[in-house]
Amino acid sequence: MNKKIFLLIILFQIFGLVLSSSLQKYESIFNFGDSLSDTGNFLLSGALAFPVIGRLPYGETFFQHATGRCSDGRLIIDFIAEAFSLPYLPPYLAVTEGQSSEHGVNFAFAGATALDAEFFYERNIGSILWTNNSLNVQLGWFRKLKSTLCSNKQACDDFFGKSLFLVGEIGGNDYNYAFFLGGGIKQLQATVPLVVGVITNATSALIEEGAVELMVPGNLPIGCSAVYLTLFQSPNKADYDRHGCLKEFNAFARYHNDQLKQALTMLRQKYPHVRIIYADYYGAAMRFVHTPLHHGFYGGILRACCGGGGPYNFNNSARCGHTGSEVCQNPSLYSQWDGIHLTEAAYRYIALALINGSSSTPPLIPSAL
Ligand SMILES: *[C@@H]1O[C@H](CO)[C@@H](O)[C@H](O)[C@H]1NC(C)=O
Ligand SMILES: *[C@@H]1O[C@H](CO)[C@@H](O)[C@H](O)[C@H]1NC(C)=O
Ligand SMILES: *[C@@H]1O[C@H](CO)[C@@H](O)[C@H](O)[C@H]1NC(C)=O
Ligand SMILES: *[C@@H]1O[C@H](CO)[C@@H](O)[C@H](O)[C@H]1NC(C)=O
Repeated sequence: MNKKIFLLIILFQIFGLVLSSSLQKYESIFNFGDSLSDTGNFLLSGALAFPVIGRLPYGETFFQHATGRCSDGRLIIDFIAEAFSLPYLPPYLAVTEGQSSEHGVNFAFAGATALDAEFFYERNIGSILWTNNSLNVQLGWFRKLKSTLCSNKQACDDFFGKSLFLVGEIGGNDYNYAFFLGGGIKQLQATVPLVVGVITNATSALIEEGAVELMVPGNLPIGCSAVYLTLFQSPNKADYDRHGCLKEFNAFARYHNDQLKQALTMLRQKYPHVRIIYADYYGAAMRFVHTPLHHGFYGGILRACCGGGGPYNFNNSARCGHTGSEVCQNPSLYSQWDGIHLTEAAYRYIALALINGSSSTPPLIPSAL
């Protein structure tokens, strides 16, 4: 090939990348999920099952007051909004009270499951649920709100064409509730196809509603979380990996993630005009599990910043915010906030890994690298 033509092609490719990066800018975000991304719905609804999220130390690091986020500060969804210069997503229950939905809405609800509440009630474990606002309920809210967002198919296609849809993380609670009630790994593996089915059905439903850019996150390494490490402590050293995480629970999270990734591959074939991004929360979190000091987590990655004692600073009788619990001096030195949820510092790290493409496939912003 002629050298000049070759150079021209390269130049066009660089130009194309710059162009596509400016086209990637979203004007709004719609989010579905649980406490990993709830920015206030659960609190606005009364938060009966978890009232402490309405008080400090929740929110102390960034907002300096409790916002209903289950962390000391911002969540992954907040950092994604910042990356696209968008306002923090208003919770759906604030939008129904008149807050603007111009730049998107957050339907996520702390405690939410992927599967509908009936699934748990039929198995006589319904009473453990914090909420019945499952993924399908959240999807119903989106449909209800849709007519106020755009008036006809053309207008909706235009609006949603410039929107990012986040379907999850969701599904983690379906397993948490069951594990905490004593469910076995084998038994729970049988529910993974159901959970993944609900997530992929919701993703398809959003595509049918006009979504063309979607991100679907997998589960975190639950075997490294203080609540699992405390409840499932084992005298057998072989149950732990070299970082101190419980191997079989991390393997379970990967089992869920692998099935989710396979389902997304099929969805991409069914909807070739749509971009479906898998967000690898597990891989992103494992990077700071492997080298905590390198990432500034001098407090370690297995102990919660806020809690009521014990080897992982998680005590079910004195959880963060309750009498008997204490909060660490500097939450940014910890990856775990209350033993169930992560700190703002950990969420920021994961969000950056999604935005720069090192933990999102395909990359959230193709040219960020
Ligand atoms: C969920 O639904 C069940 C059955 O319909 C009901 O008894 C329960 O009060 C609901 N729970 C919440 C938290 O709304
Ligand atoms: C997903 O949708 C299909 C088709 O509507 C339905 O048959 C299936 O039961 C749904 N799966 C789940 C897990 O809800
Ligand atoms: C857990 O909290 C309870 C209630 O505050 C307390 O009595 C108990 O000693 C704590 N356990 C540990 C291991 O710190
Ligand atoms: C992407 O972000 C993650 C998290 O901040 C970081 O560890 C990684 O080095 C970044 N990768 C690139 C290529 O910038």
